[in-house]
Amino acid sequence: SGIHPLLQRLPKCEHHIHLEGALTPQVLFTLAAKNRIELPTDDPAFASPEGLVERYREFDSLDDFLHYYYIGMSVLLDAGDFETLAWDYFTHAAADGVAHCEVFMDPQAHMGRGIGYDVVLSGFQQARKRAESELGITSELIACFLRHLPPADAVATFEQDAVRESFAAGHVIGIGLDSSEKPFPPELFQVVYQKGGFMGLKRTAHAGEEGPAAYVRTALDTLHVDRIDHGVRVIEDDALLKRVADENILLSVCPISNVFLKGVQSVADLPIRKFIDAGVRFSINSDDPAYFGNNYILANYCAVQEAFNLTAAEWVAICEGSIHGSWCSQKRKEELF
Ligand code: HPA
Ligand code: ZN
Repeated sequence: SGIHPLLQRLPKCEHHIHLEGALTPQVLFTLAAKNRIELPTDDPAFASPEGLVERYREFDSLDDFLHYYYIGMSVLLDAGDFETLAWDYFTHAAADGVAHCEVFMDPQAHMGRGIGYDVVLSGFQQARKRAESELGITSELIACFLRHLPPADAVATFEQDAVRESFAAGHVIGIGLDSSEKPFPPELFQVVYQKGGFMGLKRTAHAGEEGPAAYVRTALDTLHVDRIDHGVRVIEDDALLKRVADENILLSVCPISNVFLKGVQSVADLPIRKFIDAGVRFSINSDDPAYFGNNYILANYCAVQEAFNLTAAEWVAICEGSIHGSWCSQKRKEELF
């Protein structure tokens, strides 16, 4: 449509991208060969990168995707692998007109297979530095806890020296909560979020993706998050919708992800128009672009435009809301406006 050049040009902020979700089948196979990682032999999808691309088109749920997501990241071993992964994301982000991004990582998923936190962090930091100097993209790192593991595991991870130091130094500015949503309500993770709050960390959590609107409420009430990842199911609760609008909670919506994981049949079924009408602040994001048809942020903007035919003024308002809801410095925000 005529608005496409505007979507490309707008200074976009991305708030919901799992760096491990930027692992393309091509890079997955390359690193598996380099690191001599044996991919599953009992699943024909792993016969070739093309086989994975095909299989990724048939996810039937969040958990079906996560099965592939955790196998995929098993090819990441050294700091250079993590740098390669993040750099691949940043180059796509630059091509799509991303100005600033706040990226997730899943430390427990790596530490649980014997990879040191510092290995993961140093690779990502290297790519972030390069993205800022070569691409002009600013970024922040958010460490997510895995909700399918015991809450005590999240606390123990938080308490590790290298992890605490990365928070204290500002190398990692916030915490999140991801992985299988049902049946793991946010309130299970109150202790680790309280610790994050004491350290002055920013807090967000996945909620209302597959799980009910009630998970959004308990994330707000018990984890004291100021952002909700996905959150699209708040539309099922009018009072909560109003609260999210009144408290300026940013929802990091991932339209193409929701279609791939069968949360909705099509992007048109998402409550984008209802969010705009209710004054709910949201950003539009890619989530796990390499797993969802190689669709990075701009494809998500375009899919929303195809479905909702927004005006230029509405797009500018979405991008301004995304800047407001970012966790960068006030100085950086002013540059972005
Ligand atoms: N939801 C929950 N966990 C995840 C996701 C997601 O969209 N992507 C990576 N881990
Ligand atoms: Zn996500």
